[in-house]
Amino acid sequence: METSNLNIFFAEKFGCSGSLYFAPARINLIGEHTDYNNGFVMPGAVDKGITAEICANGLDIVRVYAMDMPAEQQYIEFAINQESKPNQHWACYIFGVCREMMKRGVEIKGFDAVFTGNIPAGSGMSSSAALENVFSVALNDIFADNKIDRFELAKIGQATEHNYCGVKCGIMDQFASLFGKKDCLIRLDCKTLEYEYFPFKPEGYRLTLINSCVKHSLGTEYNERRESCERVVEHISRNHSGVDSLREATIDMLLEVKAELDETDFSRAKYVIEETERVLTVCNSLKEGDYDTVGRMMFGTHWGLSKEYTVSCDELDFLASLAEEYGVKGSRVMGGGFGGCTINLIPESIHDAFVEKAVTLFSEKFGHKPEVYEIVIGEGARKL
Ligand code: GLA
Repeated sequence: METSNLNIFFAEKFGCSGSLYFAPARINLIGEHTDYNNGFVMPGAVDKGITAEICANGLDIVRVYAMDMPAEQQYIEFAINQESKPNQHWACYIFGVCREMMKRGVEIKGFDAVFTGNIPAGSGMSSSAALENVFSVALNDIFADNKIDRFELAKIGQATEHNYCGVKCGIMDQFASLFGKKDCLIRLDCKTLEYEYFPFKPEGYRLTLINSCVKHSLGTEYNERRESCERVVEHISRNHSGVDSLREATIDMLLEVKAELDETDFSRAKYVIEETERVLTVCNSLKEGDYDTVGRMMFGTHWGLSKEYTVSCDELDFLASLAEEYGVKGSRVMGGGFGGCTINLIPESIHDAFVEKAVTLFSEKFGHKPEVYEIVIGEGARKL
């Protein structure tokens, strides 16, 4: 990412220069809403992300500019020992990271920072995890005597979401943005945090995001789904003491308690149990280069998310249906849902024609153009 504007802005505001850090956004091939159910996910980091310039200021306050925000919302400051959250939403991520690091014994001192990014807002690529990580990696570097490892940094980002931003998310986004590796997807077991890199350069295919530009922001509806899953686990575990998340549950176990469950909770849990299976199937298929199966699983995820987990929307369903019709191998809503992008595994031979068709038909139907991004899988968060 071009950093000269950032350097100029920082110098103008603070009269000096700081160190540069970058944290990427993420994609996820498959494994959606499985992370907070202790299941598997298959994300990767991308080349888009957030870059921050940071410097200790020798004071007891934190002063930050969000360069891409409108002028009146660009600046916040908070005292290091302040308990109350700042009043700009974006600043809560930084405030939360500081608090969570302090809880873990890091002596955070005052600092100045400016950050900028190129992650499309509300696209489901997790700009919030990138923001948490760019700060946690930098502050760890600058202030921690005993360095916190990357597993714990991921938990710091997740705890920030839970405790300061109102989203009871899983760990996928923070993990992917920290552990990303060029041209690799990461199979992550969200129960144990064991992970494996899967080289991903599918010969003859392109991985493309189509952004519906329906802005999503996660909150109540996301948290409600998590609660549904937890309620179902409670029921199943009465019969099966070994089950403490949907990861350990099977469809048979779910059917045993069907009569006790609300229909919505049942459908949501069914989706999650099946999705965990789909991730494992995709891992095996990738090893064999069997993209037909990978694609079929992606469509399976889409319609599960749409009909059972109900986190899709008309625009995303339209894009997935169109993809199915035009011979795209796999397509599905990516990330938390309620808007954002579809991720598409498109045969090279039909790529351009499909993308053109999708943009035209989508624009005709919904009155605005979707955006198209070719995915480049890159490295995780780092000092530049
Ligand atoms: C959001 C959350 C993640 C994960 C996905 C859905 O991105 O932050 O933890 O739950 O939604 O897979």
